[in-house]
Amino acid sequence: MRERERERERIVFCYFVCGRWCSIFPLLQVRIYREGAIHVAYIRGKRRKQEMTTIRRFRCTDLLRMSHVNLDHLTETFNMSFYLSYLAKWPDYCLVAEGVNNHMMGYIMGKAEGRGESWHGHVTAVTVAPEYRRQQLAKKLMNLLEEVTEKTYNAYFVDLFVRASNAPAIQMYQKLGYVIYRRVLRYYSGEEDGLDMRKAMPRDKDKKSIIPLKDPVTPEELEYD
Ligand SMILES: CC(C)(COP(=O)(O)OP(=O)(O)OC[C@H]1O[C@@H](n2cnc3c(N)ncnc32)[C@H](O)[C@@H]1OP(=O)(O)O)[C@@H](O)C(=O)NCCC(=O)NCCS
Repeated sequence: MRERERERERIVFCYFVCGRWCSIFPLLQVRIYREGAIHVAYIRGKRRKQEMTTIRRFRCTDLLRMSHVNLDHLTETFNMSFYLSYLAKWPDYCLVAEGVNNHMMGYIMGKAEGRGESWHGHVTAVTVAPEYRRQQLAKKLMNLLEEVTEKTYNAYFVDLFVRASNAPAIQMYQKLGYVIYRRVLRYYSGEEDGLDMRKAMPRDKDKKSIIPLKDPVTPEELEYD
């Protein structure tokens, strides 16, 4: 019952936000469905051509049609049991952005973990296929993950790991309000350093979770990864 109420609240919230978008951008059509899917249509050239973006939950069958998105060298690819365990344990943290003809544009996967004041949401993967980049898709997926972290799991912060050389992703996270919490030496395959980036959620009123550490750590020193 509470789950249903939360879902209804979320839809009302989306209407509010989308209504404001539509008034600012009159060429944007937004439809929200009961199951939580959001359809956004950009109306171009005399309203003839419409492109649709749907953000919905990740399904098991999506694993069979995501390879074009994962071909990118900065996108980590995991094995099937890894993905399936995420879909089973944290379905509300796994979302897909889909375009016309149900073509996968990108996805996000995450989880909730930690204890006490370390209870947090974690971004395990976020990626957008090259042809759909710079359309605010990753931003939308990240915003939804943060909303789940705050409203469903009531966690203190969201964290993620990113390659120190992945400048576009680091810029995006910084724009979304993430800070570099610590450097993890040789986190990626024992070669490249990773940056542990964090954003405080409203539950962390004093923003204690994002005070950066002065010294780098090794992967063995991580509490979670
Ligand atoms: C990083 C990535 C997810 C961004 O996806 P995206 O949908 O293009 O990002 P958005 O359009 O939502 O960008 C939001 C903001 O992030 C920043 N940003 C995104 N891509 C950027 C780039 N290539 N260079 C600089 N800034 C960038 C911009 O500030 C952008 O806002 P703007 O377009 O208004 O300037 C995408 O490039 C990608 O999939 N890369 C490969 C996988 C990857 O690196 N994932 C992260 C692993 S930790």
